[in-house]
Amino acid sequence: MVRADLKTLRLKATETTLAAEILASGGLVAFPTETVFGIGADATNAVSVAKIFVAKGRPSDNPLIVHLPDVDAVAAYVELVTPAAQRLMERFFPGPLTLVLPKTSRLPDIVTAGLSTVAIRVPSNPLAREIIARSGVAIAAPSANVSGKPSGTRWQSVLDDLDGRIDAIVCADTEMIGIESTVVDISSYPPVLLRAGAISFEQLQDCEPTIRHSTKSSGSIAKSPGLRYRHYQPRAHVRIVTLNAPIEFEPASAWIGLSKPPVTESLPRVLVCKNLAQYAAELYEFFRQCDRDQLLHVYCESVSETGLGLGLMDRLNRAARR
Ligand code: TXA
Ligand code: MG
Repeated sequence: MVRADLKTLRLKATETTLAAEILASGGLVAFPTETVFGIGADATNAVSVAKIFVAKGRPSDNPLIVHLPDVDAVAAYVELVTPAAQRLMERFFPGPLTLVLPKTSRLPDIVTAGLSTVAIRVPSNPLAREIIARSGVAIAAPSANVSGKPSGTRWQSVLDDLDGRIDAIVCADTEMIGIESTVVDISSYPPVLLRAGAISFEQLQDCEPTIRHSTKSSGSIAKSPGLRYRHYQPRAHVRIVTLNAPIEFEPASAWIGLSKPPVTESLPRVLVCKNLAQYAAELYEFFRQCDRDQLLHVYCESVSETGLGLGLMDRLNRAARR
């Protein structure tokens, strides 16, 4: 039950010990990672993890990522680290990569939504690592947003969604990649990319040439249940466009992309990004700003699906799905 009269405790970036204590004693704490803000809970405590699902309004069949302070901690939570998993961990941990591996009984079923695998990530953000390490436990952490909405990339936006629903938030003004970690299922052969992100398919392929894209027809939806739900959607209607064809802008519309929009006078909010990294970093907050301005449509310029572009287009496509 969420009590509207309860306020979330605002912590300074220096208060990592208090954040860790709240986590270790079963509370929910939002903190920054290098990708987006997460809502953390002790992954070994089923009661705490259940509170995450309530706070976000998250379907209980969508499993959570378990965040660990370093690579050495991984062995306690996974049954088997294959040589391929070992190579990927050596190359990309700590960082924005999540690996799905067979789980041990140390984690309650609620974390993995009953799956026999667990998603593991070692974040590189120093605050995140300090909080996780000080808590002394593994931290289950989904993105810090109400289920279906854009992920939170500013602490103020996290509070817009979750004030009173979580115990505390670390109010750090941190720059973020802006889209969530790359998720790779390495629990079976060949490894499959379940969610594109800042660690690109090309980088993964360089380290693990057998890796495949997930295909919508095969078992990948079952393997990553989160893929079937609505995601990243502002209230405004998201439309993906290119400059190759004429665009008829609706009233109360915004533009985000790498190019200037063909017209500007009728567009109350325009963001022309200097590169893909800025596009990714600004996207979710731009969506939220459009909702605050009560705009009705967001025109997003399509980008090429290479490097970070694959993850960005994945988020845009899901945001545009109705
Ligand atoms: O960057 C990130 O990964 C952020 C930060 C906070 O770390 N977290 C995040 O969590 O994006 P969330 O819960 O919003 O997304 C987790 C994704 C979902 O698509 C979920 O279905 C998938 O990971 N997932 C989790 N466990 C899985 C498993 N055992 N097998 C397959 N997919 C899994
Ligand atoms: Mg999420």
